[in-house]
Amino acid sequence: MKKTQMLGASEAGLAEAAQVLRAGALVAFPTETVYGLGGDARDGDAVAAIYAAKGRPSFNPLIVHVPDLAAAERIAQFDNAARQLAAAFWPGPLTLVLPLRSGHGIASLVTAGLDTVALRVPAHPVAQGLLRAFGAPLAAPSANPSGRISPTTAQHVVSGLGGRIAGIVDGGPCAVGLESTIIGGAPLALLRAGGVPVEDVEAITGPLAAAGAGVTAPGQLASHYAPDAALRLNAAAPGPGELFLGFGDMDCDVNLSPRSDLAEAAARLFDALHQLDAMGQPIAVAPVPETGLGRAINDRLRRAAAPR
Ligand code: TXA
Ligand code: MG
Repeated sequence: MKKTQMLGASEAGLAEAAQVLRAGALVAFPTETVYGLGGDARDGDAVAAIYAAKGRPSFNPLIVHVPDLAAAERIAQFDNAARQLAAAFWPGPLTLVLPLRSGHGIASLVTAGLDTVALRVPAHPVAQGLLRAFGAPLAAPSANPSGRISPTTAQHVVSGLGGRIAGIVDGGPCAVGLESTIIGGAPLALLRAGGVPVEDVEAITGPLAAAGAGVTAPGQLASHYAPDAALRLNAAAPGPGELFLGFGDMDCDVNLSPRSDLAEAAARLFDALHQLDAMGQPIAVAPVPETGLGRAINDRLRRAAAPR
């Protein structure tokens, strides 16, 4: 088993991380959503190592991270709607699934053989610094073993992938705490609810299509976001032997947001699940409103609660 190197977010730390990536090894790094497990997106071996480290099903394509729109346009074909979305939300927690353009240079394992690619320009200064130091696109799924909840601190990454990857850049906790919103397909559809509220996307695109037969995000398996503990949702109170994950002003073991703030709840969600899961008892979860970021929170909670 390898030793995982902890790297600082200083210029020297990022230069070292870029060196490790150039050697084809993997480095986890912070984005504003969750920590990503980065590898050179042009290098099929590095990408294979990502799937291996995560134990991820190979049909599940990865998101490619680039520093700006210009770099994204070298990889994929942008139409007007895609350009408008990029202008409105990049850098930030929005991922666009777009047709690959010829000469894109991305390893086919990244897209699991699809002719589309998921692209994202992260806003986090450490992610930006690493992309610029590396100078090429990084494939990066969330830095957790497959089927486990996404990491929002370097410590989460250590506990999930320590000893299985070369390095981790520690940039502190993630501000958004939910994965990016994924938009793609023709007509445009919501493929995954996330850090940008759907309402904000629809303010630009008009109503999105329901993600249906044609376009699917294979990562949307019912059991993808899964703590070990059983979850019971929309609980008014904990039952005997249950821990209680609260929302709003109430008595509970961990509270997502005592002041009922959905952004605060999103930022705390995975940390709260990690914390309660470590206590080894079933978890009852208070209702969270199904509006704005609440839709993404409930989506994650339903996945975490899905039978498996
Ligand atoms: O916030 C995020 O998006 C984080 C950070 C690290 O950037 N990344 C992340 O990546 O959540 P990952 O690999 O855990 O989720 C990628 C999602 C999966 O649901 C996958 O199926 C979908 O994107 N996806 C990737 N490429 C796709 C494609 N060409 N078509 C449809 N869905 C795609
Ligand atoms: Mg993930």
